[in-house]
Amino acid sequence: MAFGDFQNEIYFNGLRGVVPALPVSFDDLAERAERAMPPSIWSYVAGGAGNERTQNANVTAFDRWGLVPRMFVGAAQRDLSVDLFGTTLPAPVFMAPIGVIGLCAQDGHGDLATARAAAATGVPMVASTLMVDPLEDVAAELGETPGFFQLYTPTDRDLAASLVERAEKAGYKGIVVTLDTWVTGWRPRDLSTGNFPQLRGHCLANYFTDPVFRASLAQTPEQDPQSAILRWIQVFGNPLTWADLPWLRSLTKLPLIVKGIGHPDDARRARDAGVDGIYCSNHGGRQANGGLPALDMLPDVVAAAEGLPVLFDSGVRTGADIVKALALGATAVGIGRPYAYGLALGGADGIVHVLRTLLAEADLIMAVDGYPTLKDLTADALRRVAG
Ligand SMILES: Cc1cc2nc3c(=O)[nH]c(=O)nc-3n(C[C@H](O)[C@H](O)[C@H](O)COP(=O)(O)O)c2cc1C
Repeated sequence: MAFGDFQNEIYFNGLRGVVPALPVSFDDLAERAERAMPPSIWSYVAGGAGNERTQNANVTAFDRWGLVPRMFVGAAQRDLSVDLFGTTLPAPVFMAPIGVIGLCAQDGHGDLATARAAAATGVPMVASTLMVDPLEDVAAELGETPGFFQLYTPTDRDLAASLVERAEKAGYKGIVVTLDTWVTGWRPRDLSTGNFPQLRGHCLANYFTDPVFRASLAQTPEQDPQSAILRWIQVFGNPLTWADLPWLRSLTKLPLIVKGIGHPDDARRARDAGVDGIYCSNHGGRQANGGLPALDMLPDVVAAAEGLPVLFDSGVRTGADIVKALALGATAVGIGRPYAYGLALGGADGIVHVLRTLLAEADLIMAVDGYPTLKDLTADALRRVAG
């Protein structure tokens, strides 16, 4: 079945008077999610750094590119499948790591729901270090769909090694090291409400269940949660330098992907140091305001990666955005906030719905515009929008 067939399902249901229970456009999705989520979680998820100019620019950057339609292509069959790190995915799309995804679910177990949505759709989950449920429990819900573990590298090297080893044992297929968040960016929405979920003990299950972390405590996190949170604050963020990369590389034989790359020189240097993938992202504008939209950094990063897979996220809201990022050279495109909103509205089914809408739109654009395969989608498919 083609992804675009989702629209037939919707229209046929319409004949029976049944309309989609969940929104099919991003604006409706965000509006309804805001009403469904507790205000502190909503502002943590929806908010970004500074006056959120970079966060908004991530989204509007897509409007400056337009796809040029090609006719007489007969794009009746589309193939969106992609080989990535030794596995074949049905589509070049994945769920970006969201550290508080656990809290976005009505039942407070959003990491598990995300894994179930991955299992149901074949869309991989990149599981954050910051989870409500331990990474092993989340991996157990992934079914046949590959999962990736995102590492916030702690200052304690043994703890880093332990987390990576656990991720390997649990069956994750790659390690994504996030480089842009060893310190939290300036986030006025959260600052004005004094709200930082982890300091309240949320989403720390991977630390609290870790043998190395536990061994560093005088009392267990169950006996003395406050001291465990203080220890977490001490170890969370490691301001890595290039000198640390060989050590990171030595931690695993799994594919190693570095997230937060925006400069081509950094992409080149990471490649030379033996990483397996580059992840171009500005963290959805949550970390540093005043930055370039991530999409504008993508083409140079792709060129510098010289054939190494380039994952991309930040600002993807529609199927058209996915197609444009692919045309600009992304190997796979990460969905961020939209799936968090789907989760808030409908649990795992809500995520599945959001992913299906995005994939259906992307597939139908490729059909209408005559780009039936990913190979056809090159920069030549795009032009700058005038003005
Ligand atoms: C609430 C929230 C929490 C996030 N937590 C993480 C995280 O734990 N690790 C990480 O690498 N990125 C994290 N990100 C960044 C996402 O992986 C991704 O880069 C970003 O959401 C893309 O921007 P977009 O959602 O605006 O498309 C988080 C993003 C949001 C919205």
